Amino acid sequence: MATDYDTIAQQYKKSKELPFRLHIETYTYLNLLGDVTGKSILDLACGEGFYSREFKRKGATRVIGVEISEKMIELATQEEARESLGVEYILSDVLELGKIGSFDLVVASYLLNYCQTPEQALKICQHIFANLKPGGRFVTINNNSEQSPASYLLGTSKK
Ligand SMILES: C[S@@+](CC[C@H](N)C(=O)[O-])C[C@H]1O[C@@H](n2cnc3c(N)ncnc32)[C@H](O)[C@@H]1O
Repeated sequence: MATDYDTIAQQYKKSKELPFRLHIETYTYLNLLGDVTGKSILDLACGEGFYSREFKRKGATRVIGVEISEKMIELATQEEARESLGVEYILSDVLELGKIGSFDLVVASYLLNYCQTPEQALKICQHIFANLKPGGRFVTINNNSEQSPASYLLGTSKK
């Protein structure tokens, strides 16, 4: 299992330091999420764990990141070794995730844009629902929904 993010993992990690990401993307996303203190969070397509770590620092009790790119997970694990926050990571295609727990929040930043068909989008939504506690919330940020699925082949599995 591999994605093209394997080839750009380090550059992507670096891009999280760009001012627009820190001051617009991160600011907006964390505000949408609200107070995560004491919450359990499933972070789908977590990349190298930028937000997974942030949720833990902000007081989430349990954070699990799911990611399809081995290289991204490797970078996330390296960060965890450097600064142990207790984030858990799973290498998996979200399309094949199923139910792994019961979470207060399921989140996904830039995942849904990788759906190539309505069936894939439905499957991901079913996995999201299966992993939410009753009354739990799904929060996502995404690229422009008018952009064509063909422009997002980068994130898809090569299986
Ligand atoms: C633009 S990056 C966002 C990473 C992270 N959420 C962030 O905001 O920093 C998109 C990520 O989605 C992952 N991805 C794409 N399709 C996936 C899938 N079906 N299952 C799991 N991860 C996926 C890619 O490997 C990549 O790491």
